[in-house]
Amino acid sequence: MQTPRHVAIIMDGNGRWAEQRKRPRLIGHRAGARAVRDTIEFCIDHGVEALTLFAFSSENWARPQDEVSGLMRLFLSVLDREVDELARRGVRIRFIGEAQAFSPDIRKRMQTAEALTAGNSSLTLVIAANYGGRQDIAAAARALALDARDGRIDPDTIDEAMFATRVALADLPAVDLCIRTGGDLRISNFLLWQLAYAELWFTPTLWPDVDAATLQAAFDDFSRRQRRFGLTGAQVSQQQA
Ligand code: FPP
Repeated sequence: MQTPRHVAIIMDGNGRWAEQRKRPRLIGHRAGARAVRDTIEFCIDHGVEALTLFAFSSENWARPQDEVSGLMRLFLSVLDREVDELARRGVRIRFIGEAQAFSPDIRKRMQTAEALTAGNSSLTLVIAANYGGRQDIAAAARALALDARDGRIDPDTIDEAMFATRVALADLPAVDLCIRTGGDLRISNFLLWQLAYAELWFTPTLWPDVDAATLQAAFDDFSRRQRRFGLTGAQVSQQQA
């Protein structure tokens, strides 16, 4: 059975989960944090090498002020509460996205979490915070343009392989499986470059309701897919024989 090496998740549906219970949306985010813990556990148990979670998009700042500040407080308390345990479990924590938008408090906790877990290797947990796929691609283009301007690279040598080294997650295995919960069938502004050949899996389950059975269903479906990477089915079968 083929297990995905790198799983990326758009954790959607926290707000609706709370609204269905006539509770404030933040209660949904708090329940979502529990699902994050279970998902990390599941990935460690299944030998997944990298898990990338979309925690806060660059567009989420436009939400009502009390939801944004509540989410920030939640991130802080989760970081305070969970980092030691994650470190103990051998998880390496990383963040992608524009960190300078966060308060010094949060940035400090992010740096501490990265430093504390840098030597770990059981699972790389990437938290996409203030991340946007287009912003990621634009930053890569800017970095290459600066290198070309300053003579470090010849612009004629820029190709897909070189570009790929400048976007987020470049040092990790390619994303094999991208899961989106909450019923919407779109990528939004998540990992636009990195998802080119990922298998996509959508479920109407709201993020706080996600459990091992949901994740197992996604993994089972993944293991039944034939990944052709542009080849024909016959060519792929021949390669695998
Ligand atoms: C999307 O649901 C979810 C978010 C914007 C926040 C995700 C945050 C967590 C799961 C909390 C903890 C995470 C970490 C990594 C510590 P939504 O609010 O858009 O739901 P809706 O579509 O039902 O409104």
